[in-house]
Amino acid sequence: MTTPRRARVFSGIQPSGMLHIGNYLGAIQQWVAGQGEKTNFICIVDLHAITVPQEPAALRRQIRELAALLIAAGIDPQQTTLFVQSHVRAHAEGCWLLNCVTPLGWLERMTQYKMKAQKQESILTGLLDYPILQAADILLYDTDEVPVGEDQKQHVELTRDIAQRFNGLYGETFVVPKPVIRESGARVMALNDPTAKMSKSDFTRGHAIRVNDSPDEIRWVIKRAVTDALASIGFSNDPARAGVNNLLQIYELFTGQSRESIESHFAGKGYGALKADVTEAVIEGLRPIRERFERLIADPAEIDRILSIGASQARAVADPKVRVVMDRMGFVLPA
Ligand code: TYM
Repeated sequence: MTTPRRARVFSGIQPSGMLHIGNYLGAIQQWVAGQGEKTNFICIVDLHAITVPQEPAALRRQIRELAALLIAAGIDPQQTTLFVQSHVRAHAEGCWLLNCVTPLGWLERMTQYKMKAQKQESILTGLLDYPILQAADILLYDTDEVPVGEDQKQHVELTRDIAQRFNGLYGETFVVPKPVIRESGARVMALNDPTAKMSKSDFTRGHAIRVNDSPDEIRWVIKRAVTDALASIGFSNDPARAGVNNLLQIYELFTGQSRESIESHFAGKGYGALKADVTEAVIEGLRPIRERFERLIADPAEIDRILSIGASQARAVADPKVRVVMDRMGFVLPA
């Protein structure tokens, strides 16, 4: 009897600036919670980061900072293969191979491309190609599950389409992955505008809480968070109540309490009390992460050592997969 293969989980994150609680609650927290039972790969996607201009010294710093932050947030390199995308050449190779089976029209309709392209004076080719590199990331690991925030759903669906097209053309080669998006935290909204998603590239004070913000800054931002005039506290899908709902979801995910007990805790209370409790939960939830981060970032050699072990583990999976793909497509493989 053969033992069934453990489910594979793959996700990625860009080293393009300090993470905010949207990244943490939408993605990282669920990566940490899922460790152990499945085979996990978490990739720092530096090749994706350069699809918009990056300053080299800042990029180099941000890659190590992101590694330290992920470990500080609970990614355990013993249980998860944590690695940098550019350390595994198979990702760039896989991207090229998949470029040549993907119609251009599939990329041109991607929402994130359209949104990001609007903000650029000159659109780089890599920005359009971005989702194919993401498909290569996922498909090279025979990934079953891709835990992400809501904004990445379309990219994972495109990855499914590419896998199915390739399998149709060349025979069963890729596992067709599925996105895993949790209900709370899937789309953490901006605190100064609950109609917009919290985003790494918006630096307006009050928009986001960064994972390494000081307690004073967290207090400042939540105190000014936009709510509504209804003065009642409950989870809701009503767009008019998006601000309160956002604060409640942040509270839910930082405290781990059920929605029922949260609603009864806040019954009859006002927004002042809600904001005070959310502030406390965020400060206490982020405190250990910030403290561990400060210790880890002081030892870059140790970070590099962990990333180098991760890269070897990732290469052991991705390199043979690229060979299989090239073989299917008719290349003569180097002896
Ligand atoms: P990135 O770096 O923009 O974001 C990392 C993760 O954070 C989630 N996220 C959010 N979740 C909830 N609310 C928000 N406001 C919020 N903002 C961001 C994202 O959904 C994501 O899960 N293209 C990807 C990186 C990537 C990838 C991959 C992901 C490259 N290759 C392969 C999965 C599999 C991205 O830019 O994520």
